Amino acid sequence: MAIRQLRLRDDEILKKRCKEVKKFDDKLAILLDDMFETMEKAEGVGLAAPQVGIIKRAVVIEIEDEKIEMINPEILETSGTQNGNEGCLSFPGLFGEVERPNYVKAKAQDRTGKTFIIEGEGLLARAICHECDHLDGHVFTEKVTKYLEN
Ligand code: NI
Repeated sequence: MAIRQLRLRDDEILKKRCKEVKKFDDKLAILLDDMFETMEKAEGVGLAAPQVGIIKRAVVIEIEDEKIEMINPEILETSGTQNGNEGCLSFPGLFGEVERPNYVKAKAQDRTGKTFIIEGEGLLARAICHECDHLDGHVFTEKVTKYLEN
């Protein structure tokens, strides 16, 4: 495993629409392992592949020691709303209020290509939405209504 370099702020790679993952091979497994390691070192809750310079539809999330990897994720349903402060490993030190659905149901594949359904509320719902946005070239600052003063 290795720590990968984070792409920051106005890096053009963060604005690209990522490509579908078609090969579930060792290269993908290494990418996911490296993403987990990079996210853990930076003490993040989620990380999307473009944040480490890879324009592929893959994200990792870790909440309360539960590790989730989502390849080619698709949000199927959302409900409710939550308002809370959000940050992003590509924007160190920046936090702001973002409205997100309070519940999300999504479909994704694991590293072997197997499809699964995931449901999340609260922080998990927020993380799934934030990371899926990255795969379409969107970052949270586009949705911040109010920045948190340091
Ligand atoms: Ni982010």
